[in-house]
Amino acid sequence: MSTTKIAIFASGKGSNAQQIIRHFKGKTAYEIALIVSSRKDAGVLDIAKNEGIPSIVLDKNNFFSSDDYVQFLKDLNIDFIILAGFLWKIPVGLIHAYPQKIVNIHPALLPNYGGKGMYGHFVHEAVINAREKQSGITIHFVDELYDHGAVIFQATCDITEQDTPDTLAEKIHQLEHQHFPAIIEKVLAGVNSN
Ligand code: GRF
Repeated sequence: MSTTKIAIFASGKGSNAQQIIRHFKGKTAYEIALIVSSRKDAGVLDIAKNEGIPSIVLDKNNFFSSDDYVQFLKDLNIDFIILAGFLWKIPVGLIHAYPQKIVNIHPALLPNYGGKGMYGHFVHEAVINAREKQSGITIHFVDELYDHGAVIFQATCDITEQDTPDTLAEKIHQLEHQHFPAIIEKVLAGVNSN
């Protein structure tokens, strides 16, 4: 069986990307072949360098106005795309080129607290301000709408009176690091079995 080549798209620190890289290390059926970022100062690019994984920083105009990057990914034989804190909307051309092969993680229990502008700290502030008793993570396929594709997996955490957006963010990050890599592998195993 040929190696499944994975690209990770990220705009931030890259703690999820780091966990995913660690998870697939030594698994010869999979290769984290590329790190793609929307920001030249993203911490994920340092992780790519430390891990010896090729990386690129996207040109925004090109990303949204052409399919150049679709061709770039296809030329690299990328089979699957993981969004791990990637803040731009995925253009329809990329979605059509990778049907049911783009997965995203959202730091809340979709369909609540999702959509444009709902990312990072904004999500946790909204959840705390709404005095929710629970929050969690959602891993889902990506479609043409923000945070809207078919849900693959959700995990929850309790919220106490003492929780703040920062303490909730920490709980969510722990859930992400605990579940995202293994869920990706399950999805990939399903994709490969088709
Ligand atoms: C995570 O909270 C993820 O749910 C969201 O963006 C954040 C990325 O964090 N989509 P990191 O860059 O992986 O640390």
